[in-house]
Amino acid sequence: MHSNPKTFYEPLAIGAPLPLKEIPAVPMRMIHFFDPSNARMIDKIKDIIPTVDVLLGNLEDAVASNNKIIAREGLIKIASANDFQDTMLWTRINSLDSPWFLDDVISLVSTIGDKLDVIMLPKVNGPRDIQFLDQLLAQLEAKNNIKKPIMIHAILETAIGVANVESIATSSPRMQGISLGPADLAASRRMKTTRVGGGHPGYLVRNDPDKSNPESSRQIAQQDLWHYTIARMVDACNISGIYPFYGPFGDIGDQLACEDQFRNAFLMGCVGAWSIHPSQITIAKRVFSPPPEEVIFAKKIINEMGDGSGVAMIDGKMQDDATFKQAQVMIRTAELIAKRDKDLAKLYKL
Ligand code: GLV
Ligand code: MG
Repeated sequence: MHSNPKTFYEPLAIGAPLPLKEIPAVPMRMIHFFDPSNARMIDKIKDIIPTVDVLLGNLEDAVASNNKIIAREGLIKIASANDFQDTMLWTRINSLDSPWFLDDVISLVSTIGDKLDVIMLPKVNGPRDIQFLDQLLAQLEAKNNIKKPIMIHAILETAIGVANVESIATSSPRMQGISLGPADLAASRRMKTTRVGGGHPGYLVRNDPDKSNPESSRQIAQQDLWHYTIARMVDACNISGIYPFYGPFGDIGDQLACEDQFRNAFLMGCVGAWSIHPSQITIAKRVFSPPPEEVIFAKKIINEMGDGSGVAMIDGKMQDDATFKQAQVMIRTAELIAKRDKDLAKLYKL
């Protein structure tokens, strides 16, 4: 569709808003999922809004088939009735091959299209899926006089999607980010697991036996099932100017393992993760905000390195242009978060 780079940023329908050249950099530490078919949510939501960076009305998996329309209507009601201030409003619609996709898009854009920041599209297999939604959104934005283009976020949760991740990331100027969907991806890859994300004690490496004592116990180290996919996703997003996210962690009671999974994603370059239970909001906030001591160390590097050239020793560690750049990433992330989080701003001494 967009084979000519000169036309990449042209609107796809007459009257549609101009596509964004840059995806807004704002804190997105947690994408908090709620079920808009749950009537109690309608009252609860206004208290949740100020506690999260992103609020997402989920219409896809976890919403029963006979509740799909109720969920869609619930989201329209909630979006119309609330002021979201600087909390982003996203939705996860049903997949392209479902009977709900078309009406999800048409009814949401024609009613709350000016409030929706991002549409998350599940089970994305390749660039064609994104471009189909891109074209449809342009039509609907033009028809409904929407001034701000709605962005698209893809879930990476099929084997073919992983094979195409770079071309998905660059498929449209609407692309805002990608989330790893470990549950669907496990099924699509025919992995022999029954979990939603996280590690597995069976996926490990083991030391050789001690020849002088073959019966002695051998040390094992659990490996990370998601390392390869997160790494590919992070690179695909960074070459495309969009944002990578870890998705759901299903064992709600295991807050420590959730924190580990989130932190691995943070260290590898993800900007946030999904919270599928209120207890995970706090975990994501803690993990995806740079640690204050790292921010203070990063500031020290920047202060000592001047223009970034040359070499310096700080606290016994070698610094050069590359660590200067890492420090800039840390400081920029902290600055974004400090604007939203006054307590952290103090700790960061920004
Ligand atoms: C999320 O949608 C997943 O399948 O993990
Ligand atoms: Mg899924």
